[in-house]
Order: sequence, then structure tokens, then C-alpha cells
Amino acid sequence: MSSVREARGVERLVQGQDTQDGAGVRLTRVLSHDLQERLDPFLMLDAFGSDNPGDYIAGFPNHPHRGFETVTYMIAGRMRHKDSGGHEGLLQNGGVQWMTAGRGLTHSEMPEQEEGVMEGFQLWLNLPAKNKLCDPWYRDIQSHDIPEVTTPHGVLVRVIAGQSHGTEGAMQREHTEPLYLDLHFPSHEGVVFEQPLPASHNAFVYVYRGGLEVVQEDHTCAVPLKRMAVLSNDGNGVVLRGQANTRAIVIAGQPLHEPIAQYGPFVMNTREELVQAVDDFRAGLMG
Ligand code: FE2
Repeated sequence: MSSVREARGVERLVQGQDTQDGAGVRLTRVLSHDLQERLDPFLMLDAFGSDNPGDYIAGFPNHPHRGFETVTYMIAGRMRHKDSGGHEGLLQNGGVQWMTAGRGLTHSEMPEQEEGVMEGFQLWLNLPAKNKLCDPWYRDIQSHDIPEVTTPHGVLVRVIAGQSHGTEGAMQREHTEPLYLDLHFPSHEGVVFEQPLPASHNAFVYVYRGGLEVVQEDHTCAVPLKRMAVLSNDGNGVVLRGQANTRAIVIAGQPLHEPIAQYGPFVMNTREELVQAVDDFRAGLMG
């Protein structure tokens, strides 16, 4: 029997915007500024993917962050990160770097390859006001340390954060309670995947291979390749039906309902706190 009694629908489909960031890395900004309130606690989602080194080789040289977390998920390729606290790590195929910027750090994220495919996602997850100035922290999670579960219908689920089908993810966070799943549908068409989701949690699905449908009792909505479906906040879960070999990420979290003030890589609650962030960065207080 299904654990999803009433399935959520699609409120809107979003096509990402092609842009450049860092030292000229080409990427697709899937979740941008205008969706920050709607998809609270998520602030940004970038998808990068290219087999042309010219699109990624310049990387992201030294830059600061304050007030939120970055979650970088590598599908293919290698990226080395170094930060002002002396930490260094290599992010590679299927691995995740979960970084809590807290009160601030400076880091670089640079490709460690000169050819081949570089593909992945960077998600920005907000911190509650009371934790925005916490100590910086990060964790490198290698691919083999990401729990996986295969549903009875044959969908492989990589559980990066939260919980799915009885499997605890690699990360659990209080306050925002993020769910981050990478779904790999099998090679035959029409397989269904279900995931319970509290109605209060904002949620979206992004398709990066193939395509799928968001299924409700009396309605389905097709989500094509490279589209994000913002899910409506009704019902108690989501039901997805995939085309053959579809891959998609499902992301959900408990909204913070706090004011969002952003200036580039700083995300605080007020303008005054942003001015302070810029001052602290200039004074060398972010490493
Ligand atoms: Fe960064």
C-alpha cells in the first residue's frame, strides 16, 4: 500500500538560466533569487555540466561565504577545495562536500582535471538566524559513504540528506531538515517512485537525465529534461513516474520564515548584517 495518500502537484516548471560565475565557469542557475522566498530554506541551485574544459577550467578562485551552507554534489569530475582554515579536500565522482560557512571563511573550488566531463550541482541552504555566525565546518563525503537503497520497483536512491525508504542519509540537519535524494530510474519505462514529504516543507524536483511525470490521482504533469518542478504544498508526499534511465534530484526542507538579505556570497537577515559582513571580509576576519 502506498504511504503517499495525497500526492503533491506541480505549482510551476522552471527553466534554468545560463550564466557564468567564479572565474568564468559556465553553469545553469536553476534556483535563483526570485525563488528564495518560495523555496525557503534553499537559496540557490546551480547545475554545471560540460565536456568542454573551456567551460569549467577557470574554476572558483578564492572567495568568501557567510551565513549559510553550501552542498556540492559531484556527478562526474574532480574538484579540489581549500579554505582559509587550512582544510583541503578532493571532491570526486558521486561525492558530496557539505560546508557550513557560518561566520565566514574564504575558499577556492578548482577543477583538478584538464579534460573530460565535469558535472554536478551546488545547492545553497540557509542557516537560521541564531546559527549564522557559528563556527565554519565542513565534511567531505566520498561516494561510497552515501547510503543507497533500491526500491521494490527498482529505483536506486542515493540518500544524501534526510531519509528515504527506511534509509538514513549521509547528513541530517536540524532546523531546515533537508531532504536531498538522487534518483536513478531503471532501464524500463514507467516505474513509479514515492516519497513522503511533510506538507510544510518546500520541495522541488530537477531532472538531469531523461524525463518524468509528477503523478496525482486525477492529473499528471510532465517534467522534461533540465527543468525544475516546484511542488505545491499540499498532500503528504510526491509520486514520480520516470522514463527509462531518468535521473533526477529531489530536494525538500523546513522553511525558516526569516527575512533573507543577500549580497553576493553573504546571506544574512538584515542589510546592517550584510554591511558588517563586507567590513569583516575587508578587515581580513574571514580567514
Ligand atoms: Fe564557494
